[in-house]
Amino acid sequence: MNDRIDEIRTEAEAAIAAAPDSAALEHTRIQYLGRKAELPNLLRGVAELPPEQRGAVGKAANQARQTLDRLIEARAGELAAQELDAKLVEDRVDVTLPGDPPPSIGRLHLLTTTRREIEDIFIGLGFNVAEGPEIETVYYNFDALNHDVTHPARGRTDTFYAGPDVVLRTHTSPMQIRAMELQCPPIYIIVPGRVYRRDSDITHTPQFHQIEGLAVDTDITLADLQGTLLAFARATFGEERQVRLRPHFFPFTEPSVEVDVSCFNCKDGTTADGRRCPLCKGTAWIEILGAGMVDPNVFAYVRQHGYDPERIQGFAFGMGIERIAMLKHGVPDLRLFFDNDIRFLEQFG
Ligand code: DAH
Repeated sequence: MNDRIDEIRTEAEAAIAAAPDSAALEHTRIQYLGRKAELPNLLRGVAELPPEQRGAVGKAANQARQTLDRLIEARAGELAAQELDAKLVEDRVDVTLPGDPPPSIGRLHLLTTTRREIEDIFIGLGFNVAEGPEIETVYYNFDALNHDVTHPARGRTDTFYAGPDVVLRTHTSPMQIRAMELQCPPIYIIVPGRVYRRDSDITHTPQFHQIEGLAVDTDITLADLQGTLLAFARATFGEERQVRLRPHFFPFTEPSVEVDVSCFNCKDGTTADGRRCPLCKGTAWIEILGAGMVDPNVFAYVRQHGYDPERIQGFAFGMGIERIAMLKHGVPDLRLFFDNDIRFLEQFG
């Protein structure tokens, strides 16, 4: 009897050691220690053996079962660890990989690309980019820009006041003064940024964007302004473009002009199919910005920083980024920029 027990044990030990995975091991356990297996049957039958055999057989069978139990437990632990390692390798997730399908990464807003395009053009012409505060003092926003005390833009109906002498800047022009306080001439800067006005209708939003330009040097004339803006207009609206200057008034430039670019949608105000051009309204010209020669009264505010109006001159201009983007891309309604309708935004960039 004990020989048979040894045989079973040797066979089972080999099977346990050879079990390739947990499922096979469980199978082996049932085969040798399960309810219908030979060894447990032997143990159950010990009571029926002749008394002189009971002790030896019972002991041998019990030892064999305990040994097999221990071996199975040890092997189970080994296999579980192996299987966990394999699963960890198999299930490894590289969190740096793109999703599947890769999520769309979005795109730049049309106003951002337009601003960058304008910046690139002026950087190419030798200008630097400067930025300034959106909350501005009345001094920089109006006084130092030569606005008369009665100028309507100073009124609370036109401008957001944050305090008696503090406004949300109504234009990017205050940076002309701030920049000249910080840097003696020559100075060539553009200033992109948000501006605020108490305006809200189809063509006005309370917040919009401008780019200011300022060039101060010796021997600067209106022709330099015109040449600079011609280069800008051609880079933005096509090489065929012309610009013209029309007299206008701004408090901080003298003379002041409005600058028109020749219409890129028609010839002499008439479209290819003979209709009056809707873009320039048949005038063949489109207004793009305000500009002028820096008023000596403005230099007077920064004279102590090296701006002597007897020795230096400057030109300045200011344009609306929304307006440039609308003209260039045929955007019909200003509010589209701020509605965040993805169907609109996805068409650009
Ligand atoms: N600041 C003016 C505006 O908001 C635009 C402007 C006009 C800027 C003439 C200038 C300039 O620098 O010279 O309408």
